[in-house]
Parts: sequence; structure tokens; C-alpha cells
Amino acid sequence: MAELKVLFATSEVAPFIKTGGLADVSGALPAALRAIGVDVRVLVPGYRKVMEQIENASVVATFEHLFGIPHTSLLAATMPNGVPLLVLDCAELYQRDGGPYQNPLGEDWPDNALRFGMLSKIAALLGGKSSPLDWHPDIVNCNDWQTGLASAYLKFEQGVPSVMTIHNLAFQGAFPSGNLSQLGLPASSFSINGLEYYGNLSFLKAGLFYCDHITTVSPTYAEEIQQDALGFGMQGLLSYRQKELTGILNGIDTDEWNPAQDSHLAKKYSKGRMAGKAENKRALQEKMGLEQRADIPLLGVVSRFTYQKGLDLLLEIAPRLTELPVQLVMLGSGDVAMQNAAQTLAMRYPGKIAAYIGFSEALSHLIEAGTDIFVMPSRFEPCGLNQLYSQRYGTPPIVHATGGLADSVRDCTDETLADGSASGFVFSGMSADNLLATIQRAVTLYHQEDAWKQLRKNCMSKDFSWETSAKAYRDVYRKVLGRG
Ligand code: ADP
Ligand code: GLC
Repeated sequence: MAELKVLFATSEVAPFIKTGGLADVSGALPAALRAIGVDVRVLVPGYRKVMEQIENASVVATFEHLFGIPHTSLLAATMPNGVPLLVLDCAELYQRDGGPYQNPLGEDWPDNALRFGMLSKIAALLGGKSSPLDWHPDIVNCNDWQTGLASAYLKFEQGVPSVMTIHNLAFQGAFPSGNLSQLGLPASSFSINGLEYYGNLSFLKAGLFYCDHITTVSPTYAEEIQQDALGFGMQGLLSYRQKELTGILNGIDTDEWNPAQDSHLAKKYSKGRMAGKAENKRALQEKMGLEQRADIPLLGVVSRFTYQKGLDLLLEIAPRLTELPVQLVMLGSGDVAMQNAAQTLAMRYPGKIAAYIGFSEALSHLIEAGTDIFVMPSRFEPCGLNQLYSQRYGTPPIVHATGGLADSVRDCTDETLADGSASGFVFSGMSADNLLATIQRAVTLYHQEDAWKQLRKNCMSKDFSWETSAKAYRDVYRKVLGRG
């Protein structure tokens, strides 16, 4: 029998349903934990996309009249990577057109408190004394606000301990207190020493307050969230709990993100056979209507378009970039003003700037491979995955020194280039001028062929596999259970 059993409760999981990095982590970390002997099962809502993709699912439990919903069931299935999956099948809450959190117009679903309260409640039931399953986890690992209430239910109902993993403190799941009774939460929990936050019921605060241990997705972010600037109001609670707060850098799925076997690429390549990278650049230029130039550095962006990601600065300096010259390709969606700005630039600078507004897994891989430099000037970044992918694809990233970006990219200087540790360009001070100066620095190095080759090689030599991080999660689980 496995030493440790963990229920990994999450609101998205790749490859079934993804809006951002949480899905990537939920898709890969459980497999890495299983590889080191931890019996992890993933719990996810049965969104339409999930229901359409799971195969050979069987009903393993049913729940009647929970939170006023007549019938909910739990299905057991398996992820493509072999990880056991539990799917919460409740058509009226989850089977809709639109995304996991928003309707097709980009508005939050009005019943999100119920939708994710239900997910949290089921997670807690599975970690509780009267679980309907014969598999009993030792720990529930919650992820972000969507599963934060599970920690509260587990405490109120004397279930197993929980770990709360913060992927992004900016999203907090705040709802009117009127939801308390439908969600079966005791009135006494609605206090500053509980799940109340400025008059609202906060799912995130519930998780942070009631869990047994907090993790977040990089060591630097673990420090930053205890300060006013990036604590999003939770800094007091987080610094109070700092002894139970651990930063563990995310890894990446090295099978999914591997230029030597990536079916989304025009040509596969590897550290020892780099010729294919140029072919991907050509294919990307062609696909995006950029001039077919091998000699001009091509900059890439794959991102949610939000204030967090700092793309407003890049959009501001884009006209000046075309004079360097560089080309720029952007993939993303989100903030409508940013989307419009990106499209306007593409129209004004045809052949030099291109934008694809939308979500495309295939194009995201081609951009990682086909660009020369990846740009990620995030104002804050709990971990960030694209800068990890870009390094693996030999595309040095330009990043702002924050969170996981600071922890995963080593700035290129004469010394770091000489000792083989340089892997990108890091700037401090969030300003358009600093970003522009850093892009100029990267472009200068790009034209020094040997140095650039060395930099790309350094990037591709780095190990971002999940193994080390999975061991760190296992250490946390053991500590929480008093087994460490
Ligand atoms: P975040 O989770 O904050 O959005 P991460 O860097 O951790 O940032 O993860 C983002 C993930 O979502 C990456 O796998 C990235 O490739 C993917 N992604 C973001 N936007 C798009 C898009 N428009 N099309 C395809 N993939 C995208
Ligand atoms: C969040 C963060 C991102 C992180 C991802 C996975 O979406 O914004 O930095 O990489 O979660 O942990």
C-alpha cells in the first residue's frame, strides 16, 4: 500500500480543461507524485469539455439533495497519463457553454459560489469520516480559491488535514455572506478569525485560514505575498502563518513540452540538432504573415492579457521595437483594450507585428519553438510556466524580476555566460524604458552568434522536470501528518 494517499482537488486539469497554468500543474504534478510512490487522485468538476473527453467512466458515488441540488454523482476515470481521476458530474452546475469560471461573454457565472462550494464540499466529504469511497486520502491538497472551502469543511467536520496551494493570490473568490447557509457553513465561521474578509465570504481566506499548511508555486512568491505590495490583503494572515508556508517552484511536463518530440512543430529539434529551430521560425513567420527574415530576431508572447502580465508596457514600446529591428508575435486573450491594442499594432505594422487573439495550444508550442526571444514582463508572477517552456525550447526569455520568474531565469552577464548559468534577461523596475533597454540588450547579444548559441544551449540544459518539486510536496505532506 502506498505510504501516502492524496486527493488533489482542482478546478482545471490539462489536457481536459485549461485556462492557465493551474491546469498544467494539475495535469503533471500528480503524475510526478505517483512516480515517487504517492497515491494521488485528482478531483475535477465535470464541465462539458471534461465529460466529452473522459473514457470508460464509472459511477462510484452519488449524493442526493446536497446544497439543494437533487442529484450529483462522482465518476471514476483515468487521465491520459494514467493518473486516476474523479469527476464531479452535476450537469446543472457544470455542463454549460463557456469557460470554467465565465460565460461565453466573459462574465463570471452568477452561481460560482455554489459551483465551487460544491466542488469543495465533495473534496471534504472524500476526506471525511463518512466518505462513500473505499479509497481514503490522508490529505486533501486544495488549489486556489475554487477549492479553498474544502479546508474549512474538513476542519468543521474533523476530516483529514489539508494543504492549500496558492497559484495566484489575485483571484480570491469573494461572495456575499448570504451564501453561507446554502453552503452549510456555520454562522460562527463568518468572522475575522474565519472565512470573513471585508464583509464577504472569501473562499481563498477560508483555505488560507483553515488549512494545515500553505504552499505556493515559487520561493520568491512565498516571500512576496507576506508583504503589502503583493499580498493582496492576505499578507497579515500569510506572515502570521509563515512557519507553515512553503514555496515550491513548479516543474513542467517534459513529455508535453519537448522540442524533440513535439507534434505541433514544423520541425523537431534538440540541443545537439538545432537546425530545426530555424525551420520553426520560418513556419511561424509564414503562418502569422510576418516577413520571412532569418536575420531579424523574432520576439514571442503567449499570455493571458491582464494587468498582471505587464503586456501594456510591451504594447507601448512595440512601435519602437520595429525600428531595432525586431519582429513580434503575440498569442493571447483577455482584457479587451489590450486585445484591441495588439490587433491595431498588427494592422499598423504588417509583416513586423502579428497577433492572434484567442486560445491555441498548437500555436503556443510553435511560438515557444519558432521565436528567438520570449517576453514575459509580468508585474507579479507566482511561478509562470511559459518562461520554463521557452528555456526548454532554446528561446531565452526576458522577464521582470518577480516571483517564479526571478527563481527560474538567470540574467545574462559576462560572468553568467562564462560560467554557463545565464539563461535569459532579467530586469528590475517595472517600466517601459527598462523593458526596452532589456530587449535592446538581448538583441545585441542575439547578433553575437557564438554567445547566442551558448545562451540557447544553457537554456536547453536546465532541468525543469517535476521530480524535485514532487519530492518537496511529499515532504510537506509528511510534515503535516507528523511523519517527517
Ligand atoms: P497563468 O497561469 O498566470 O496564465 P502560466 O505561465 O503559469 O500563467 O501558464 C499559462 C499557461 O497557459 C501556459 O501553459 C500557456 O502556454 C497557456 N496559455 C496562456 N494563454 C494561452 C493562449 N492564448 N493560447 C494557448 N495557451 C495559452
Ligand atoms: C497561476 C499563476 C502562474 C502559475 C500558475 C501555475 O495561474 O499566475 O504564475 O505558474 O498559476 O501554478
